[in-house]
Amino acid sequence: MLKIASPGRVNLIGEHTDYSLGYVMPMAINLYTFLEGNKSSFVEIYSETLKSKTSFNLQSLERSNDWSDYIRGIFWILLKNNYNPKGIRGKIYGNLPIGSGLSSSASLELAVLEFLNLEYKLKLSKMDEAILAKEVENEFVGVPCGVMDQMAVALGKRGYAIFIDTENLHYECVPFPKLHILIFDTGVRRELANSEYAKRREIVEKTLNGLGNKSSKYVGPESLSKLQELQRRFLGYIIRENQRVVEARDALKDGNLQEFGNIITEAHWDLAKNYGVSSPELDFFVKNALKYGALGARLTGAGFGGSAFAIFTQDPSKIGEKILKDYKRLFSHPAKYFLVESSDGVRKCIR
Ligand code: GLA
Repeated sequence: MLKIASPGRVNLIGEHTDYSLGYVMPMAINLYTFLEGNKSSFVEIYSETLKSKTSFNLQSLERSNDWSDYIRGIFWILLKNNYNPKGIRGKIYGNLPIGSGLSSSASLELAVLEFLNLEYKLKLSKMDEAILAKEVENEFVGVPCGVMDQMAVALGKRGYAIFIDTENLHYECVPFPKLHILIFDTGVRRELANSEYAKRREIVEKTLNGLGNKSSKYVGPESLSKLQELQRRFLGYIIRENQRVVEARDALKDGNLQEFGNIITEAHWDLAKNYGVSSPELDFFVKNALKYGALGARLTGAGFGGSAFAIFTQDPSKIGEKILKDYKRLFSHPAKYFLVESSDGVRKCIR
């Protein structure tokens, strides 16, 4: 029996910058998808969380438009790249909430990949796994995401955030201080996320193309005056966000935690105002976390619901409780909060 632990992630800063090949700085967190099972000639996986089972054989790898596509897609991409794993019989479970903006899909994909990598000796590096999982999202599941989530889940390191240049995939592990991280899942599932995400990606890509660039890293504010209103707003946000990721990394390196906090809060309001991906629920959390003493707070992931986080120097359990209580007076969604720490990336569990 092999057991894999695959973390979720919080993106500290660098939101909606990965699909224009800019900078991001996520961190793997200690909320996990676990996959345990044995080798098999076919696939049979039971999800304890969803109370649902998927079974298929490797000759019929079609999309089924449900959660099992993340698993089907992994087999599909491996076969496409001439790896020849056999199947798995096992179960998945864990404490990483599904569809909350904490990368539950990348976590599941990487759990399956690492299981197959170890059981069938595929000799994949963690970077190979991240790239393959991203292709699954783009080409099999049909989500036009960037590479941030998969890299965070694959390459996470306890005690560190990962600064990534998504153009060349160079990355740097940046020591993350002993701060308390409060994650707030607003309980709003991201219905708009797919269409609005794809729309932004398309606009940004077209705008960059028009400017003769593939990566937003090389575009400066002087280019903005040539653009129309919406394009200027979106690209303006991305240019500032790339800059903030670098500044946030440097603030962490200098131990300047209040500066780091200010940068992430500024990023939230820029996302809300200019990129249009926040929501009243996310804004409520950010305002209240700051009111109760957070160094900084912002939404994390694609937005339109999902989760936000805040960082504190003191244990924020009571603050989490208080915000949750106030939130429930105003909104009826099944919100939750989590206190999390950094984590290693996907790996085998040693018993
Ligand atoms: C989702 C995508 C990522 C990234 C974020 C926004 O999490 O999967 O690739 O684009 O949204 O930063």
